[in-house]
Amino acid sequence: MLVLQIIVALFTALMGGLYLLGVFRRRRPGEPPLDKGLFPWLGHVLEFRRNTVKFLQRMQRKHGDVFTIQLGGFYVTFLQDPLSFGPFVKESREKLDFNKFAKHLVHRVFGYWSANSEHHILQQSSNKYLKGDGLEVLTQSMTANLQNLMLHNLGKEEPAWTEDGLFMYCYNIVFRAGYLSLYGNVSPKCKDGEEKAKEKDRVESESLFYKFRKYDQLFPNLAYGVLPPKRRLELRGLMDYFWDVLAVRKVKTKDNISGWVWDMQQVREEMGMDEAMIDRYMFLLLWASQGNTGPSAFWLLLYIMKHPEAMTAIKGEVDRIVRESGQEVRHDGPLLNLTREMLMKTTIMDSAVEETLRLCAAPLLTRAVLQDMTLKMADGKEFLIRKGDRMAIFPYSGVQMDPGIHPDPRAFKYDRFLNPDGSKKTEFYKDGKKVKYYTMPWGAGVSICPGRFFATNELKQFIFLMLVYFEFELLDPEMEIPGIDVRRWGFGTMQPDRDVPFRYRLRY
Ligand code: HEM
Repeated sequence: MLVLQIIVALFTALMGGLYLLGVFRRRRPGEPPLDKGLFPWLGHVLEFRRNTVKFLQRMQRKHGDVFTIQLGGFYVTFLQDPLSFGPFVKESREKLDFNKFAKHLVHRVFGYWSANSEHHILQQSSNKYLKGDGLEVLTQSMTANLQNLMLHNLGKEEPAWTEDGLFMYCYNIVFRAGYLSLYGNVSPKCKDGEEKAKEKDRVESESLFYKFRKYDQLFPNLAYGVLPPKRRLELRGLMDYFWDVLAVRKVKTKDNISGWVWDMQQVREEMGMDEAMIDRYMFLLLWASQGNTGPSAFWLLLYIMKHPEAMTAIKGEVDRIVRESGQEVRHDGPLLNLTREMLMKTTIMDSAVEETLRLCAAPLLTRAVLQDMTLKMADGKEFLIRKGDRMAIFPYSGVQMDPGIHPDPRAFKYDRFLNPDGSKKTEFYKDGKKVKYYTMPWGAGVSICPGRFFATNELKQFIFLMLVYFEFELLDPEMEIPGIDVRRWGFGTMQPDRDVPFRYRLRY
């Protein structure tokens, strides 16, 4: 009898194991093509990680615009037809859920356990402080902080050339200015302590950036849960550092803290959340707000430098806007007061920003499938999607690189998003049909980036100040645009696989 029980138990365990490994999963009628890959449970995860774009292109050639693949124990249905993105983006939260999927990832990479129902707090607070009137305040802070970091030597000494890597230079400045604008400035101890406080801002933000870059480099392996033990130790040290530097009690001693960061702390305090957990959230916000803008600034400046016609058009626009604002930038004059109003007149720069993000922003948008559902495609086809699976779109290959929508998709065309009359172009077509989601650097739907208006402003402010105050050039004007670090597909703005040497000096 006992032997029989053991055999039954072993058999059940074996079947359970095989089930978990995906051995019994079969495509049911009406479902998308299923591709489990060669390895049980792992499925295609190795090839997917090695180069997401190449892999998805291969799958699309093999199966068409909709297919289900096995990735590390999950079945993920990819939707690659941009005309059919609407149902994914707009599907109700009862069927396609973002939070459930994000919660575990957020804990793994930031150590933060989110409370249920806190997503709407982020949305409310972002609506209040990251757009409209709130953005006006933030734009002023950003201008002041960029000026502190970029122009503190202005007029003090004979301008000299400095050589640097363009990527590190752009990331450094934009990260630090963005951080200071959101988390506040060191408070001057006395009236004439203002210069000292500004210097402290420069020094402290520099150390933070240095540590952030280390974390940034660990991020892809961390997100996939494959960080080797030695790196895990390093990660722990970095996390402790961020939780300490960004701790609520420290941020509260600062001046000019943004309403966004302040609100996010306050609401959690009122919810009764442990302070140490709020400190972790502060780090999450730092990563979300600063991880993409600096790399985007790099690509934008590089593309402008490599395309003289873009440089001429954008510099012309900047000079005109400065003139129209009644200001004149001089050696001994006041600093440029770069207002939000001025930034709203930059139609050519807006197009260059949009074009840059089309080329370098590559997020993977993922949802958990909470109920069995039917996916209705634009061409009338329908697919059954199973509860418990995941759905994803990868707009970079799905739409941003589609030659049917964006001819010559790998080329940078600064005016791609301009109509012939100079207004913003928003109409793009595929096979004669209008495409609503023609570029998606900010994601879409429930999880669309709440910082997109501020981020766009940050990029424009940085370029504006570079063009007004600096001369700069590539050390090798003939050098090719660097390749992309393919380990980062899916995580937002891509980074180059090498830096680009350049030099810059103040004009004044
Ligand atoms: C060029 C710069 C930026 C890019 C390309 C970018 C892109 C994105 C994308 C694609 C997502 C959605 C991810 C998903 O659906 O899984 C996202 C989310 C987010 N972004 Fe941005 N972002 C940028 C800058 C910023 C800035 C400056 C802030 C804040 C000031 C910010 C705050 C956030 C937050 C808080 C989320 C999470 C939203 C949520 O959970 O619903 N981002 N970003």
